[in-house]
Amino acid sequence: MANRHWPARVAEVTIRLSLTDHGLSLTQDDLKRAVAAAAIAHVPAGCVVGVGTGSTANCFIAELAGIRTRVAGAVASSEESARRLEQAGIEVLDLNGVDDIPVYVDGADEITRELAMIKGGGGALTREKIVAAVARKFVCIADQSKLVDVLGRYPLPVEVIPIARSFVARELVKLGGSPVWREGFVTDNGNVILDVRNLNIVAPADLESTLNQVPGVVTNGLFARRGADVLLLGTSDGVRTFTRADRHGSPPRSG
Ligand code: 5RP
Repeated sequence: MANRHWPARVAEVTIRLSLTDHGLSLTQDDLKRAVAAAAIAHVPAGCVVGVGTGSTANCFIAELAGIRTRVAGAVASSEESARRLEQAGIEVLDLNGVDDIPVYVDGADEITRELAMIKGGGGALTREKIVAAVARKFVCIADQSKLVDVLGRYPLPVEVIPIARSFVARELVKLGGSPVWREGFVTDNGNVILDVRNLNIVAPADLESTLNQVPGVVTNGLFARRGADVLLLGTSDGVRTFTRADRHGSPPRSG
């Protein structure tokens, strides 16, 4: 599933939340819980679920606990999510023993209507990218603050082998970026993170490839070559669903 450019056609529907129908205002946490609940409909019975990292993914883990007997287990994108899944009574499986993940559910730091994302605010970008690459369907769950026209207001996380930190930072400056070392943070893979501002991300798939060519970069937080297939966006009007058109060009789905 990796290394493919995605067509831009995306269908959209909105399901109104009952709370808004009753005139109550929703918090950001309400919106995260709403999209997490909506994601359960994308989890086929008996499957291994890919589970992301972050506060929105944590809401999904709480929802998944309610159907734990209907899933075969989960592959986690971080040690933190693995711990939460185990606490929820869901078996955590080693990705090396799993060859099919029908669905991966995760949040994002930013997402466009073309379903390209910036991820890695929580520092789990590399494992997220690996699990997403194995998954047949990527369902992104996000509140409305994450939807952007152009990626890049959020600093782009880049995971780097520790000895390459300064070299990679200099290379990022040459590309127009302003990298900042996330001091004191070590990824689950034992690496460091550079958060990069001021990159011009008009062609996210190209920049994703370019950054990954820099020696010492493990991966970067652009998820454009393998974007999301579905976005469940929590808004004050309800959960809006954006669905990517089939990659072979069939008409967009509307559910
Ligand atoms: C972690 C991620 C998260 O998906 C991203 O940071 C969004 O997190 P949250 O749901 O807490 O806003 O990429 O590495």
